[in-house]
Amino acid sequence: MSRILITSAIPYINGIKHLGNLVGSQLPADLFARYMRARGNEVLFLCATDEHGTPAELAAAKAEMPVDEYCQQMHRTQAKLAAGFRLSFDHFGRSSSPQNHRLTQYFAGKLAENGFIEEVSEKQVYSHADGRFLPDRYIEGTCPNCGYDKARGDQCENCTKQLDPTDLIDPRSAISGSTDLEVRETKHLYLRQSALKDELDAWIDSKSDWPVLTTSIAKKWLHDGDGLRDRGITRDLNWGIPVKKGEEEWPGMEGKVFYVWFDAPIEYIACSAEWAEAQGLEEADWKRWWRTDAGAEDVRYVQFMGKDNVPFHTLSFPATIMGSREPWKLVDYIKSFNYLNYDGGQFSTSQGRGVFMDQALEILPADYWRWWLLSNAPETSDSEFTWEKFQGGVNKDLADVLGNFVSRVTKFCRAKFGEEIPAGGELTEEGQKLVADLDARLKAYAGHMDAIDVRKAAAELRAIWVAGNEFLQTAAPWTSFKTDPDRAAADIRLALNLIRVYAVISAPFLPDASATLLEALRTDAADWPEDMEKALSMLPAGHGFAVPDTLFAKIQDEDREAWAEKFSGVRT
Ligand code: MF3
Ligand code: ZN
Repeated sequence: MSRILITSAIPYINGIKHLGNLVGSQLPADLFARYMRARGNEVLFLCATDEHGTPAELAAAKAEMPVDEYCQQMHRTQAKLAAGFRLSFDHFGRSSSPQNHRLTQYFAGKLAENGFIEEVSEKQVYSHADGRFLPDRYIEGTCPNCGYDKARGDQCENCTKQLDPTDLIDPRSAISGSTDLEVRETKHLYLRQSALKDELDAWIDSKSDWPVLTTSIAKKWLHDGDGLRDRGITRDLNWGIPVKKGEEEWPGMEGKVFYVWFDAPIEYIACSAEWAEAQGLEEADWKRWWRTDAGAEDVRYVQFMGKDNVPFHTLSFPATIMGSREPWKLVDYIKSFNYLNYDGGQFSTSQGRGVFMDQALEILPADYWRWWLLSNAPETSDSEFTWEKFQGGVNKDLADVLGNFVSRVTKFCRAKFGEEIPAGGELTEEGQKLVADLDARLKAYAGHMDAIDVRKAAAELRAIWVAGNEFLQTAAPWTSFKTDPDRAAADIRLALNLIRVYAVISAPFLPDASATLLEALRTDAADWPEDMEKALSMLPAGHGFAVPDTLFAKIQDEDREAWAEKFSGVRT
């Protein structure tokens, strides 16, 4: 048994997330967490809402709500949707928590003590029309790196380059669109990432098993031009974590807050403190996950995120941890994702394009989405959601393969032997072959799950379902039943037991279907099948079951057309 700490990139508070966001971090993180728990490991799986910065302020302004109220309400909404998708967080925290305030100020204090903070008199863009400074997303313009004309002041969405507002070409205010801007001087804190460059470089070099997507982005920003220049970690905003040095005031920083990208990853740690408090646990109980001087030396820490988040997790956040010169846990493995596109374009929150989490659940239950999204996860390249592909995947894999197997086996047994596992006969030759085949396939499946190769794992699971159908085809119990009912009984006993195995091993992808199947089989034996032959004889002759309702309904052409039409426009 190992201890595995899992975090998903924490979603911005500024609205309901789309399916592209979901499949890029929270959903695969949940898959991994469920799998690791099923394998008997001790798992702490954390996520939270990312509540500070300009996205929060802009969204609250648009909703005409005070920002704290807006965040509270949207946190509840996101938590409800996460539960709807069966995301099994041990805690869903908030980056605005008192725990994160304390910890962020604490880290800033340590970094200052160790000489990694510099006070810089900085040029900031001031908007006359808006009467305020325009940090980060309050300003838009053309990316100096790739020429994309809707780049934001903090990062270019197109090429992932981290930017400063003053880098933008032809800048304009995101609030008013005004170009009547002026650059003014103001004092800010900078994190001296450059002083940690060699340490970061060596650390990333030591991670030879990381996905290429992760290391290539990290290396690019370490070595190309100014990728690792020092970064401002404070902002002139009202909403955020007040700039302090630990518990002390920071002279000259009155009225300023930390930059959202400084405090958000620290929330991973703070979230575990929130979790401990919610569980009535002690400080030592969360520190054993995070401090290598308090029990975390044997923890494996895995992060999940979209590719645009990689620079912050491979460079900025590790710089914060390293610069504290305290034994906080660094990430062991970063699983990053490309983008999921929507029907020939991009999913876009700002443009309301695509399918959003609330809308998805209004159409179909979580398992349908979980399966399609995970089995088409944008791992080695971007992938695309179209309604045809979605219909095809769901109907083939879930209805025709898994659902059909369950339905045929349970209905046949009910018709010929009644609603209990039939007695008689012995493991047939076809049965033995199936056991051996499944044994090998399950090892391959587990290997892909251990390696977090999501698509490969899904493909292997599908192959395991297919193997059941093929077995049924060759064994043909409906034929043997006429001449050799014992033989038919043995094959059906195996097939019914296989349904239980399917329920157990498919649970990380399909938690609801898994629960339905175990309930129909009147068992809660959900141990991972270590020994396939044993696992396939767990439910003995005479054990009662019920034929479950249709596990997965097929998506009809009319539905597909109606949904494609409904989601072709822009969400208002
Ligand atoms: N809110 C960011 C996004 O959605 C992710 C923040 S992850 C963390 O892109 F590291 F800051 F926590
Ligand atoms: Zn760019």
